[in-house]
Amino acid sequence: MTNNIVIRKMTLNDLEMIKDILISDFDEFWNYITLKNELCSDNSLYFVAVKNNDIIGFAGIKFILDEAEIMNIVVHKNYRKLGIGSLLLENLIFESNKHDIKIVHLEVNSNNVAGIKLYEKYHFEKDGVRKGYYKNSGSINNDAILMSLHI
Ligand SMILES: CC(C)(COP(=O)(O)OP(=O)(O)OC[C@H]1O[C@@H](n2cnc3c(N)ncnc32)[C@H](O)[C@@H]1OP(=O)(O)O)[C@@H](O)C(=O)NCCC(=O)NCCS
Repeated sequence: MTNNIVIRKMTLNDLEMIKDILISDFDEFWNYITLKNELCSDNSLYFVAVKNNDIIGFAGIKFILDEAEIMNIVVHKNYRKLGIGSLLLENLIFESNKHDIKIVHLEVNSNNVAGIKLYEKYHFEKDGVRKGYYKNSGSINNDAILMSLHI
């Protein structure tokens, strides 16, 4: 399933390539401006998953001293459940090891089954909840689940 997929550093040019399909094909939370700022940040490292010259996923992590925070992992809607999110997360964990990171943090929406499954697969453990953190258009806001991995 993950044959012929290359994981490499994400560039501003990569972002330009997916700019027009970010909302429709990836995820509405990560807009162009936010991603561009992230790519230009010295503390952040972003990667893309590429198949046949098409970008089918990306993921980013921020390093703060010996701690890291996963900013996002997003796979193109047509390529989910094929192991690409796993490849991207493995790469972020590998990079964390390289940077002598002791702990990797993240937060994920409590309704995000796919995200939680992905992180649990790599032994992230739940260590807190931010009640009502994610604002919904309806009256009930979702909690943020805080997870971390000691490495
Ligand atoms: C979360 C996301 C990155 C997972 O990517 P993916 O390429 O589909 O993940 P994988 O195929 O590597 O699956 C990883 C594990 O999660 C499980 N999983 C993935 N999607 C799932 C779903 N919708 N429901 C239940 N389990 C799911 C898989 O079964 C797999 O476990 P397994 O190997 O033990 O079977 C993808 O769904 C996505 O882009 N979501 C939108 C963005 C997002 O929410 N990102 C996470 C928070 S930043």
